[in-house]
Amino acid sequence: MKLIGKLTLLFIIFSTFEIAALSSIYSPNKILRLDFQLFPDGTPAYTLSRKGTQVIKTSELGIFLREAVPLKNGFSIIKTDSVLVDSLWNPVWGEVKTIRDYHRELKITLLQKETERQIVLTFRLFDEGLGFRYEFPAQKNLSYFIVSDEHTQFNLGEDHSAFWIPGDYDSNEHMYSKTLLSKVDANIGASAGEISTKRIIGKNYVQSPLMLKSVNGLYINIFEAALTDYSAMHLEIDQQRFVLKTHLTPDAFGNKAYMQTPCKTPWRTVLVSDKAVDILASKMILNLNEPSKIENTEWITPMKYVGIWWEMHINKSTWNYADAGNIKLKGFDWNSLTPNGRHGATTANTKRYIDFAAKYGFGGVLIEGWNVGWEDWFGQWKEEVFDFVTPYPDFDVEELSKYAKSKNVKLIMHHETSASVTNYERRMDEAFAFMKKYDYPAVKTGYVGRIIPRGEWHDGQWMVQHYSRVAEKLAENKLMLNAHEPVRPTGLHRTYPNWLASEAARGNEFNAWSVGNPPDHETILPFTRLLGGPMDYTPGIFQIKLNHLDKNKIEQVHTTLVKQMALFVTMYSPLQMAADLPENYEKHLDAFQFIIDVAVDWDNTIYLEAEPGDYITVARKAKGTNNWFIGAITDENERQTTISLNFLDKDKTYTAVIYADAKDAHWEKNPMAYQITKQKVTFNDKLNLRLAPGGGCAISIVE
Ligand code: NOJ
Ligand code: CA
Repeated sequence: MKLIGKLTLLFIIFSTFEIAALSSIYSPNKILRLDFQLFPDGTPAYTLSRKGTQVIKTSELGIFLREAVPLKNGFSIIKTDSVLVDSLWNPVWGEVKTIRDYHRELKITLLQKETERQIVLTFRLFDEGLGFRYEFPAQKNLSYFIVSDEHTQFNLGEDHSAFWIPGDYDSNEHMYSKTLLSKVDANIGASAGEISTKRIIGKNYVQSPLMLKSVNGLYINIFEAALTDYSAMHLEIDQQRFVLKTHLTPDAFGNKAYMQTPCKTPWRTVLVSDKAVDILASKMILNLNEPSKIENTEWITPMKYVGIWWEMHINKSTWNYADAGNIKLKGFDWNSLTPNGRHGATTANTKRYIDFAAKYGFGGVLIEGWNVGWEDWFGQWKEEVFDFVTPYPDFDVEELSKYAKSKNVKLIMHHETSASVTNYERRMDEAFAFMKKYDYPAVKTGYVGRIIPRGEWHDGQWMVQHYSRVAEKLAENKLMLNAHEPVRPTGLHRTYPNWLASEAARGNEFNAWSVGNPPDHETILPFTRLLGGPMDYTPGIFQIKLNHLDKNKIEQVHTTLVKQMALFVTMYSPLQMAADLPENYEKHLDAFQFIIDVAVDWDNTIYLEAEPGDYITVARKAKGTNNWFIGAITDENERQTTISLNFLDKDKTYTAVIYADAKDAHWEKNPMAYQITKQKVTFNDKLNLRLAPGGGCAISIVE
């Protein structure tokens, strides 16, 4: 007993010495406070508090270098600078017309005496969160270095609830689990069933953004912003002390990043609020990214599109033209193959989709499986799979280009790289020139499989550089990008606004051929993956049960039909696919009208109510109009809610069309039952909404 008493006393004395804070700043409205300190051994550390409560307890900072003294301790402060920034900027497209960047910045310049090296820690404190990063100025003693580990802690100190997907350097396409931090078991995974075998088993790490609900009801999100020239961050969990630590994606040598000064890490970010809607509405990640590198942006056009896509996922048709395998790209005579008779991307079928797009006002038609190589593209880990410029014999690119133009519809290119990225890099220039020639303004890229160069991961530094290189090169050619299977976005669409969307999460496609996405999935994504940027989720599947073509097919979409419509509003993206087959839409033209009407670019967005894993209701005002669209979704539970329309203009009367789940609708038992009602509304009105289990509600409000 006595010994324990003495130890405690010693500990208290010791801690008091350590906790002499050296610099503090407050966020503009004083809600958040950041304390920076150096420990007696010169280790930098920070603490984040909200209204006097510590959200992130004292957490260490540092970078370990390969074969060099770690940039971890032995520091002294040589300079601190602080500035209040308040500015407005207009995104090229987005959820709101104007974004306010309002924060206080603290810059601490540190000197490591032993090595005479300097680093700068930059903190930006917003009212809803903190961003900070390491900067390495150009200097004599630090010109080039290899990061072997990053030692950034997020000391939560308590056993919060977490929405997590398991660490995986190659994929984000997992289902979320909700558990206490102490119960996270990322080694056995989140029941995704597809955790890559390439993970380092034995370390309990999860992906970011990590959404947390604290023991005292705060919403906390840990993530990163502006990931360029570095590897993506996972988070390791200490399940006794509830301290998270950065876990960077390695390369084939186990190195995490190669750096040349002057350089900097991405921002490490913490969002915090007592309201869940504040997390969704935050523009902090965007504010931490660099302004657009593209000066003239007129050619960048948000759009809705349809495509030859879902029909392959439900196995109505195929990407491949023939069934033969083992094809060599060079010198192969494609006309010598016998067609399998099920090829999706034929000239005739593409015309059918172009006609459909033209008839209902869609901007684009995506065509997958148009180019040679699909017979043998998957799981081979081989270098030469696609050349991105040779159409199959039954796809007349010249004629289709003319046909699309005559119908005022754009063709959307597809470049599945099958993760043979060296091959893609070699062929990119030619592939983009081909797009220009045939007037494709946008490309959907894809990185299915294991990365070549072999030993690299989707989330490693080499690939992170690749995705940005593609966006940059496309921008030079005035082309737009939608990347599938890239690293998860971190707000780079501010810098490259031609990068309209990414997948980088488990999309609707999983409902076509796997156990699917559980009904709460879409209520979690906006709190996690979407914080970094728009997702090409491909909503809008009307034919929910997928046994309509093949009675043995047991898969289904895990929502009601109406929830698929609401996703066009709740899952923000400037690029939205109406993913179902034309014939399925034509069976429900009254409901399809909402998808025809809904906008993809907005002047204003109001998150009305939200709870991660449970529900989201959001209202958005279409760009340049007075029209509003509301999307409400729920998880597997039925939900009743009342929303006020007090955001409408006070002097106007509008017509609201309410697309609701029918009374007996249910995502599993009766998913396609809906009812449509129309009424006049003003800002004084309230609407009572009822969402079926796994359901939603979609509303258009037109002046
Ligand atoms: C996976 C993508 O997510 C999907 O959209 C695409 O159809 C296939 N890969 C084939 O490229
Ligand atoms: Ca995918």
